[in-house]
Amino acid sequence: MIHWHVKPTAEEVALAARDIIIDAAHRAIHVHGIFKLVLAGGTTPERVYSLLTKETCHWEKWQLYLGDERCLPIHHPQRNSQIIQRTLLDKIDIPRQNIHFIPAELGAVKAAAKYQQIINLASPFDLVILGMGEDGHTASLFPNHQYIESELVHAVFNAPKPPAERVSMSMTALSQNRTLLRLITGANKKDSVEQWRKGENLPIATITTLGNEITLLDQSTFGDT
Ligand code: 6PG
Repeated sequence: MIHWHVKPTAEEVALAARDIIIDAAHRAIHVHGIFKLVLAGGTTPERVYSLLTKETCHWEKWQLYLGDERCLPIHHPQRNSQIIQRTLLDKIDIPRQNIHFIPAELGAVKAAAKYQQIINLASPFDLVILGMGEDGHTASLFPNHQYIESELVHAVFNAPKPPAERVSMSMTALSQNRTLLRLITGANKKDSVEQWRKGENLPIATITTLGNEITLLDQSTFGDT
């Protein structure tokens, strides 16, 4: 059952996402003393990350992971880790050891093997954030691509969204969450949202939750269908 939460603007999506993340953090820290959060790459969550920096949080209790990473040099501006560094990490006081990024600079195979060990120990997560591409991909899980289901982390070599070489948490790993938060903004996503609503099993639709799921969209993505 998808809970579609349609907001008038992308800004209101970001504000709602910020509130959901802060609430999940409070609950997780109250229940088990830490907040294990999987961050999304891409541009949609940037505003959410920026809003989070304005909050007063027990950052030392946050453990951050990444849903996927592009195989680029470690300081390449197009790395998801660099986007998150600029929009969030440079502005909050979080211990370095709490940040568990994907060593994608090692190449997809080595990085996936290393990250698999980290995810195996960290799972389940309190909150997983996902974005969605125009084709309905999420993380680096793309339509009409085959992935080894038993893996927690995939080495990806043929991504249609550059760069072709990536590392991605798997559907199985991303589904190990107590709360799943999907963020979708931009009229360019409208067709995929429509296909999804009609039952198309796009990668974004394959990620499930152990608890509750929230899909936040702006009005431009949600036609009248
Ligand atoms: C990536 C992201 C990717 C992203 C979607 C949406 O590495 O590109 O992980 O899965 O979330 O492509 O991207 P935008 O948020 O920029 O539209």
